[in-house]
Amino acid sequence: MCGIVGYVGSKDCSDVLVNALSKLEYRGYDSAGIAVFENGDIKTVKTQGKLKDLEDKLAAEYKPQGHIGIGHTRWATHGEPSDVNSHPHSGARVTIVHNGIIENYLELKEFLTARGRSFLSETDTEVVAQLLDYEYNGNPLETIQKVMQQLKGSFALGIMFRDFTDRIFATRRESPLIVGVAENECFIASDVPAILRYTRDYYLLEHDEIATLTTEGVSFVDKHLRPITKELKTADWDMEAAEKGGYAHFMIKEINEQPEAIRTTIMPRIRDGLPCLEECGITVESLKRFRSITIVACGTAMHAGMVGKYVIEDLARVPVVVDIASEFRYRNPIVGKDDLVVIISQSGETADSLAALRLAKQKGATTLAIVNAKGSSIAREADMLIYTLAGPEIAVASTKAYITQLSVMYLFAFELALAKGTVSAAECKRLIAALIKMPDAVAHVIENCEEKCKFIATKLVNADSLLYIGRGLDYALSMEGSLKLKEVSYIHSESYAAGELKHGTISLIEEGMPVISVATQTDVIPKTISNIVEVKSRGAKIILVCTDACARGLKDGVADYVVEIPHSEELLMPITAVVPLQILAYYTAINRGNDPDKPRNLAKSVTVE
Ligand code: G6P
Repeated sequence: MCGIVGYVGSKDCSDVLVNALSKLEYRGYDSAGIAVFENGDIKTVKTQGKLKDLEDKLAAEYKPQGHIGIGHTRWATHGEPSDVNSHPHSGARVTIVHNGIIENYLELKEFLTARGRSFLSETDTEVVAQLLDYEYNGNPLETIQKVMQQLKGSFALGIMFRDFTDRIFATRRESPLIVGVAENECFIASDVPAILRYTRDYYLLEHDEIATLTTEGVSFVDKHLRPITKELKTADWDMEAAEKGGYAHFMIKEINEQPEAIRTTIMPRIRDGLPCLEECGITVESLKRFRSITIVACGTAMHAGMVGKYVIEDLARVPVVVDIASEFRYRNPIVGKDDLVVIISQSGETADSLAALRLAKQKGATTLAIVNAKGSSIAREADMLIYTLAGPEIAVASTKAYITQLSVMYLFAFELALAKGTVSAAECKRLIAALIKMPDAVAHVIENCEEKCKFIATKLVNADSLLYIGRGLDYALSMEGSLKLKEVSYIHSESYAAGELKHGTISLIEEGMPVISVATQTDVIPKTISNIVEVKSRGAKIILVCTDACARGLKDGVADYVVEIPHSEELLMPITAVVPLQILAYYTAINRGNDPDKPRNLAKSVTVE
């Protein structure tokens, strides 16, 4: 994980680096540091803790004065979070920042130790810094090339050579890196939001390419050091979108952005009232031949896949397997040329999801990526691609990315059902018309349930453990509700298929234990209510998220608290029903004094296994 940045220009470099890092803290935030050329020397300041701690240190102790430098925000892999393990790391003539993992670092460390080198930190990164110094021959590009040939694993590197005080270098393999350009200044960053304050123009660095950044501009070479020209891209995300815009946290801001995110995602993909995914390389003809679908993803994205499974199987009658990417990649999965493998990922860089995509391709399957981050690795490598157009998601706990993943799952399921002839055009038009209403429905739910959820969150604050239950689509949704709560509140929680409870888990129920039940699917509501009564009679406190129709049919006393949401097309209910679960998680985190945007131990983009 980790975020890296670099700057070459005429501004105060320390300020630019800190500002750029503040947009990358979602990638890790257990330590931070910068290195800047000052009077021909490299000055490094780094510290354990969040970026704020680095800012305090810069203000209190020493702030490097210069115009060229590199910076880092860390999510520890090798070595605990500490001042000494923080980046940048140095050899005698070189200083670097690194995102990724050097898999053969122990081997390289032994090699260097045998040649008299010693190390200050436990990191794999310091090994790269020392190796660069060891191989240094006065020519930075040749040195970087030589070192890259020895590295195994993933890396994005920002590099400063003491002998070349007017430039920085950058390279990458697997880990993402962009190079931003403006007039007389340029940048490197792990992600676009870091540079948006300064420029929208950037290049995507490809594997093993090396960039040289000077005030004159940027030049690129390939792994053979042959000069290359690259296509300049322009970011269509603006600064304001990457900022909090008046909300206390990104998480609640992003929850509120969901109506717009759904609208932006679905509307360009609807033509004449029917789904139209041609621009994404998907046609009715191309979908006809698939025998089965495997959806592979991690975390929240995998939960979007669970909803997708229910919807696709119901409408298109094609069998769907949902798999966790880290499991899929190591279990010799049964996929081949007649199968479609769908990879869902907000970041498009999750290491396990990317490996799963490559494995699926290797096995001859057709791959479809559903990705939010433009130009990310998964987006670029898949055969077909549907972008979720959620805009930048900064909070670690995913909300608007999830809801747009659901929206794309629906569009895709409708298109597939048309292709398979299991749904008529007229029925599809009816479903699309219902989908178009969802942005307003979500806005309505946010407006009407926030206060109620805020109140219920006060009842959860002291819970040690809780359960989420539901059946069918409500069960798929419960998984996401439970993950959201545990991610940000740190309360243990599990989701369970309501009917499965009595086969073991019901033994956990004791007086006062909160059970959050989702009931939006008419055909199974009576069954879910029976399960609710079973846990209630054993002392559980019931929080019921249900449709207004369901609420009207409830007998008094079934639930302790009820959050009603308007009834809409039942297949689409997860889109609205997830909202109270997100808000409940957000306020529970706040009530427990947690920072919901940066939950402990987590990172937004998991680019390591
Ligand atoms: C991390 C994030 C989750 C996310 C998961 C998959 O664990 O904290 O919010 O769902 O990675 O990430 P992706 O970018 O592939 O959707």
